[in-house]
Amino acid sequence: MGLEGIDEAARLIQNGDIVAFATETVYGLGADAFNPQAIKKIFIAKGRPLHNPLTVHLSKIVEVDKVAIVTEEATTLLKAFSPGPLTLVLKKRKGLPSIVTAGLDTVGIRIPNNDIARQLIEKANTPVAAPSANISMRLSPTTAKHVYDDMKGRIPLIIDGGDCKIGIESTVLDLTRKYPTILRPGTITLEMLLEYLPDIRYNNQNTKISTTKHYIPNVDCVLARTAESAIIEYQKAVSQGKSTVIIGRKGFIKDKSVNFVTISDSIVTATKDLYKLLRELEERFDYIIIELLPQEVAYPLRNRLYEITQGVII
Ligand code: TXA
Ligand code: MG
Repeated sequence: MGLEGIDEAARLIQNGDIVAFATETVYGLGADAFNPQAIKKIFIAKGRPLHNPLTVHLSKIVEVDKVAIVTEEATTLLKAFSPGPLTLVLKKRKGLPSIVTAGLDTVGIRIPNNDIARQLIEKANTPVAAPSANISMRLSPTTAKHVYDDMKGRIPLIIDGGDCKIGIESTVLDLTRKYPTILRPGTITLEMLLEYLPDIRYNNQNTKISTTKHYIPNVDCVLARTAESAIIEYQKAVSQGKSTVIIGRKGFIKDKSVNFVTISDSIVTATKDLYKLLRELEERFDYIIIELLPQEVAYPLRNRLYEITQGVII
C-alpha cells in the first residue's frame, strides 16, 4: 500500500470514519479521538462493550499533551521507549470525549513504531483512538487478512502493512496509581521499565497475569506441563472424537502419529507467530494442547498463553 492508501485512510479518519492499520504490535482500528460519533463506530464494529477504554495513538511525543497531562515520569518513559510497544495510562485532558476513555478520567496513549501508522496519524492531523482491530474477545489480528476475516463488511478500509513485527499487544503501564502498575505485560518488560522508574508493580503480583479477559478462542485450549500429560490428554480427546493438535517446541512430541505443530525456539519468532498460528489451528481443530513454556524464556508470551487457555493446565 503506497502513499495514496495512507492519504485515503487519513481522509476517512478526518471524515469521521474508521480504518484499520498495522502497528508493530497488532493491527489497530482507528478513528478521530475528538469525534465521538466516529469513536462509536469502533465500538460497534468490534462489538466492544462501552466500558472498555480505547488507547489513543499519536505520531510524536509533543502531541501527547493534546489528550493527556504529561508528567515528568511520563516524559522520561516516552523518551526512552517511544515510538514503541508501550501504552501509558495518564490523566486525560478534559477536551477528550469521554466515550474514548469509557468515562474514566485517565487515558491510555501510545506512539506506534510503524512508519505507516505514524504517517497516517500525522496526515489525519488528529490523535487516533485505536483498539486492536479484532472482533471483541477474539485474538488480536497480526495480518491484514486477520482484520479482513473479522471486519469484512464492517469497515471501509484496511491498510495492508504486512505481518506485525512483534505480534502481541503493547505493555500497558498505569502511571496514575500510587505505584506505577503494569496492567498488561508486553515486550517492554518490568526490568526494562525499572531502569527508568522505581517501584513499578504488576497488577497481579503473584501470577504476573493480568486479570482482564481479552481473548476467548473459538476452540478449547489447554496448557500441558509435560509431554506425557500432553499425550494423555491428546489420546483422551481423540477417543472422544475431538480433532486435536499439540503445539510445542521442536522435539516436545516425538510420536509421529500425533498431530503436532512446532513453534520456533526463538521466543521472538514464537511470539510473533502465536496469534497467526492459533487462528489457523482454530479453523482445523476442536481442541488445542499447548506446551507450557518455561517462565524464564517465554515472558511475556507465557502471559498470553495463560489468557488464551484461561489458566487451565494439565
Ligand atoms: O499494542 C497495542 O496496544 C494495540 C495496538 C493497536 O496499539 N492496541 C490494543 O488496544 O491492544 P486494546 O484496546 O485492544 O487494548 C488496550 C488495553 C485494554 O485492555 C484497555 O482496557 C486498556 O488498554 N486501557 C486503555 N485505556 C485505559 C485506561 N485509561 N485505563 C486502564 N486501562 C486502559
Ligand atoms: Mg484488544
